Amino acid sequence: MQQTDFLVIGSGIAGLTYALKVAERFPQKKVLVITKGAADETNTKYAQGGIAVVNDLENDSFEKHIDDTLIAGDGLCNEKVVEIVVKEGPERVNDIIEWGARFDKEADGDYKRGREGGHSEFRILHHKDITGWEMERALLDAVNRQKNIEFVKHCFVIDIITQHHLGNLVTKATPDIECFGVYVLNLETNQVEKILSKITLMATGGNGQVYRTTTNPSIATGDGVSMVYRAKGRIENMEFIQFHPTALYEPGVRGQAFLITEAVRGDGGILRNKDGEAFMEKYDERKDLASRDIVARAIDSEMKRTGTEHVWLDCRHFKKESFVEHFPNIYKKCLSIGIDISKQMIPVAPAAHYSCGGIKTDEWGRSSINNLYACGECASTGLHGANRLASNSLLEGLVFAHRCAIDAAEKADQISFQSNIPDWNAAGTSQPQEMILITQSLKELQLVMSDYVGIVRNDIRLQRASRRLDLLWEETEQLYQTSTLSPQLLELRNMITVGYLIVKGASFRKESRGLHFNTDYPGKSELVQNIVL
Ligand code: FAD
Ligand code: SIN
Repeated sequence: MQQTDFLVIGSGIAGLTYALKVAERFPQKKVLVITKGAADETNTKYAQGGIAVVNDLENDSFEKHIDDTLIAGDGLCNEKVVEIVVKEGPERVNDIIEWGARFDKEADGDYKRGREGGHSEFRILHHKDITGWEMERALLDAVNRQKNIEFVKHCFVIDIITQHHLGNLVTKATPDIECFGVYVLNLETNQVEKILSKITLMATGGNGQVYRTTTNPSIATGDGVSMVYRAKGRIENMEFIQFHPTALYEPGVRGQAFLITEAVRGDGGILRNKDGEAFMEKYDERKDLASRDIVARAIDSEMKRTGTEHVWLDCRHFKKESFVEHFPNIYKKCLSIGIDISKQMIPVAPAAHYSCGGIKTDEWGRSSINNLYACGECASTGLHGANRLASNSLLEGLVFAHRCAIDAAEKADQISFQSNIPDWNAAGTSQPQEMILITQSLKELQLVMSDYVGIVRNDIRLQRASRRLDLLWEETEQLYQTSTLSPQLLELRNMITVGYLIVKGASFRKESRGLHFNTDYPGKSELVQNIVL
């Protein structure tokens, strides 16, 4: 059993930034970062377009960034939180620059600023088309330099420990649910261990793997949201799943889809349908740079209308050298599958990309469970509302990691370790089950979610999804109660929970708003509300 003052679950931008902040502030205290895979296998690493920030007050303003965020969020953003993130953003971006992150610059030394859908100005700082890779690299280097941070890889968090594990009944109505630490499956020893902590940060990222096609890597299975839901914490707005309009369409390729960043459209890329028509002008006056919900729905509609599995992104008019300079990785990827962007168009289709909802937090990142904070994509801070503005996620991660660290720092000395936590109870579990039982259920889950709970929804589809998820849940619970644990089984269980929460949120929302579009309720309801589960 380990004990730590600060426990951080996840090694993406949210977890690492928070770990650095508390470790720098308390050099005598121990900060433990755990992650279920390799150190850098995170959504963060794959971020392409960049980080939205107002750091050129001559040509941009906080008000404009705030307005753009609110417009994208379609009435559901928490305005105070939007203001906090936008105004504190520049300082937090300076932090990561000080830790070593490099953003592209013009010849005169000023930053290059890109533009993406929904932004009224050029304000996206980037490192070519691999911004996330660069930020993750800088954060991991800084963490390695920090002596009081211990980093444990291949350690799968199963559940957070609360009063429930001391034998008390815990329900949604229980006041003061407390987090005492976590149970983890050590993937090197295959043993379940417990880690006690004074303060825990959930920074487990998104849940794109719940869908058949996603830009997210395999770690994005919604574990944090699912754990907090099981522990009776509050989860909100799960129905708002953002589909990125332009993932590379590669027939026959399963799993993570390669992203073609929105910055390509920011630089002038044009979407065309099967017949070569630039269709976006039919849908929105901002054309290819309308917000993501609108562009993804327009593509979905063109694909359905023309009976195709993708549309085209036309970059043939770009100066080849400029394209290669800004998007070297995309250029290389396209060439590797036989597409020379100066001669051929890129086949693209929408893919699940980002979860706007998640663990409900306040403006200091506190969840509804005492001593448990949530930050990054697994959290619902109120910034994104019904639809996240492009490139606001990395910014939110930096700003909220800082805020969680400030609040946690004030509390750490008032909390003591809980001493009587029982060991993990593995009674009744025997042999590993056949892997086919897990992989087949995962395929079914992804099909159900993609076909019934995708970009366009309706009540019949949601009811069907709900019934099928019930069955998957029942079968998986049975496996969970009787088998030795594996990461695949734990992830499947978490993904079914997340699927259930998405369907539940979507079924409760009797309107179409932001990313949630239900053809049975095409308009917006007058009641503007978050759906808390
Ligand atoms: P992540 O970076 O996903 O990290 C999650 C961590 O939690 C991982 O270390 C994972 O292993 C760990 N973890 C999860 N479950 C467990 C468990 N059970 N036990 C232990 N560890 C666990 N946003 C922008 O703002 N700008 C962009 O340009 C941009 N581009 C993107 C491009 C792509 C292809 C993708 C997928 C996303 C993009 N986003 C972008 C979104 C953004 O990258 C993510 O929202 C953000 O990086 C999430 O950071 P995070 O720290 O919350 O989670
Ligand atoms: C992209 O580069 O298009 C992704 C940006 C984001 O998801 O914020």
